[in-house]
Amino acid sequence: MDKILVLDFGGQYNQLIARRVRENHVFAEIRAYNRITPDEIGKEGYKGVIFTGGPNSVYDPASPHYDRKVLNLGIPVLGICYGAQLTAYMEDGVVTSAEDSSEYGKTVYHLDDKENPLFKGTKETAICWMSHTDYIKEAPKGFEITAHTDKCPCAGMCDRSRNIYAVQFHPEVTHTEFGQQMITNFVIDICGCAQDWKMDSFIEDTVAAYKEKLAGKKVLLALSGGVDSSVAAILLHRAVGDDLVCVFVDHGLLRKNEGDYVESVFKGKFGLNMIRVNAGERFLGRLKGVTEPEKKRKIIGEEFIRVFEEEGRKLGKIDVLAQGTIYPDVVESGLGDSAVIKSHHNVGGLPSVISFDEIVEPLRELFKDEVREVGEKLGIPKELVWRQPFPGPGLAVRVIGEITEEKLAILRDADAIFREEVDASKTDANQYFAVLTDNRTVGVMGDARTYGYTVALRAVTTDDFMTAEWTRIPYEVLERASVRITNEVKGISRVVYDITSKPPATVEWE
Ligand code: XMP
Repeated sequence: MDKILVLDFGGQYNQLIARRVRENHVFAEIRAYNRITPDEIGKEGYKGVIFTGGPNSVYDPASPHYDRKVLNLGIPVLGICYGAQLTAYMEDGVVTSAEDSSEYGKTVYHLDDKENPLFKGTKETAICWMSHTDYIKEAPKGFEITAHTDKCPCAGMCDRSRNIYAVQFHPEVTHTEFGQQMITNFVIDICGCAQDWKMDSFIEDTVAAYKEKLAGKKVLLALSGGVDSSVAAILLHRAVGDDLVCVFVDHGLLRKNEGDYVESVFKGKFGLNMIRVNAGERFLGRLKGVTEPEKKRKIIGEEFIRVFEEEGRKLGKIDVLAQGTIYPDVVESGLGDSAVIKSHHNVGGLPSVISFDEIVEPLRELFKDEVREVGEKLGIPKELVWRQPFPGPGLAVRVIGEITEEKLAILRDADAIFREEVDASKTDANQYFAVLTDNRTVGVMGDARTYGYTVALRAVTTDDFMTAEWTRIPYEVLERASVRITNEVKGISRVVYDITSKPPATVEWE
């Protein structure tokens, strides 16, 4: 399988570059610049290298530099933004900083070399996305200028004899017209990659590799019913069958019918060797009287590990612990400081009592939507593959104040109704749920006074959950949800809709 290296200099779009390469069915790997040497790049057989952008100035001694050997490996290089300036710097061109030359946002560029392979199929004048203060004032010897803008004399340059290309703008962002075309031109025409990175072959290759690697070993996986652990479970099950034991800890804080559903899919449909631990009472016991959100989270995280460990110990010797870590978890923190093992945000850490020889993470090379694609191909139900995020501590952070069985039951019913109504309306929200506040108000029903809980409905629209907008749900949908909740769920006398975005609020209430 041909692969491209995305050499990361701290750019904010490094993941996007890898995505754009993968959209061509060519595998791309992000590595921090200080974690791989030019010799290793040569040995590992990359067909091309892309230097990412970065926040720095090349003349700053503290900024990331790289051995110029990389330009003479005979492997094509594409430098983007800081990566372009770095290329110029390494080859003794002139990079300058000038406030009046900085460009941010959409900028028009003009091609100087219409026959340039990087710009094949693009237009002579087009829009690109710029974000820079420094710029290449003089291209290095041996380089020709391929494009310019009004402020930037060298918006693109190349040394065709060595297949080294550089652009000051960001081809990976959608605002750059023909950006994807440029990436395709680089990856397919210039690097000559075969387009054979496909999810079908990923499944086949992964299953075959684990069949061999894990033969005769006992593998343990904590299954949450979330997309990542579900896909990891099915993939590994194909490889090792019953040697994979999945432990599903039902902490009693799941949504309506969720525990039974997860069990029916994995044990029923797929025949997984799955242990469901019904630990609801135990968790509620530990949470009795606790109202402080962080304390709730901490207790649940610790208890989860404890239950998982107890089950693990019952199983005897475990050889391998499997995790559903995905690619963004691995590279999230950018410049190679990323942890190799995900600090399992759902369960609060790795078990310390169970001993195992190694960890496997079958999805560590995939982005979320690729994981979903694999999930669908593996036959996992769409509801599971496309389900909205659900916090590890579950409904505990959606019942404000002390958690009781009664409050959980009320919340489950209200939440199920709201989700049903939003689903039926096809409203575009990325996450939507109900929260049971600790606030009671007076109501009137059939001439009698009621004094019940206030339930809050929450729906957000977001790309990455780091920031989120409250979703403008149509009034009719809110009304249907409100009428149904107050009619069908005993104990609720008032329904409100949360109209706070993140920031200043968070998505979850606790
Ligand atoms: P916040 O509330 O931080 O939520 O704005 C952002 C996203 O993260 C989810 N979330 C969690 N996910 N474990 C998780 O796996 C957690 O402890 C957790 N807390 C919040 C939340 O549902 C939203 O999608």
